Amino acid sequence: RTMTQDELKTLVGQAALQYVEPGSIVGVGTGSTVDKFIDALAASGIQVAGAVSSSVRSTERMKALGIAVLDAAEVQGLGVYIDGADEIDHGGHMIKGGGAALTREKIVADLAQKFVCIADESKLVQTLGKFPLPVEVIPMAAAQLARRFAALGGVATLRAGVVTDNGCHILDVTGLKISDPVAFEADVNQWPGVVTVGVFARNRAQVCLLGTSEGVKTLS
Ligand code: A5P
Repeated sequence: RTMTQDELKTLVGQAALQYVEPGSIVGVGTGSTVDKFIDALAASGIQVAGAVSSSVRSTERMKALGIAVLDAAEVQGLGVYIDGADEIDHGGHMIKGGGAALTREKIVADLAQKFVCIADESKLVQTLGKFPLPVEVIPMAAAQLARRFAALGGVATLRAGVVTDNGCHILDVTGLKISDPVAFEADVNQWPGVVTVGVFARNRAQVCLLGTSEGVKTLS
């Protein structure tokens, strides 16, 4: 019997526990896979000093399960940040932001020494760009930024009705082939009006726990 996507997520959520040091503060991302990690952490009996959360969704889930949530400003740094991805390549570069929380995710990821990505095998790609790239933008720049993406062969669509935690908008860009994620991230980051680009290259995953039908594969 092949495992369902939900079962693969449970598997990698559980596997991520090996990266959690008792007594430490852990960085926690957002999404259905991270929800499985949060549940596994609460059930494990591992006592952490607390968590820094990347979203209201994860904060509420952790608080309900008795995991203390700390403010990012209260911590000096984190050993590990555990999060999912919308796409990940073999070098650990990711597309994130499907849930519109990419700015906070990148900030918390940057606090951590190690990014552990948990994902089912459907997220692994050769080249980033099939998943529409989320870019958080200052609203008045959206039209100009859409033209800049068009010059790269992309089609940028404003995510309707979405205002981020930072009062900004999200462009979802299709049609890009991101063959050099490091250069792409550095370039787009410099375009006026870009708040955060959903390519995580500088803050790439050092470890990817990939849920497959043959079990958890560790890519690093
Ligand atoms: C949130 O903004 C995204 O970056 C998530 O990490 C991503 O959407 C993964 O979510 P799932 O675990 O639900 O696939």
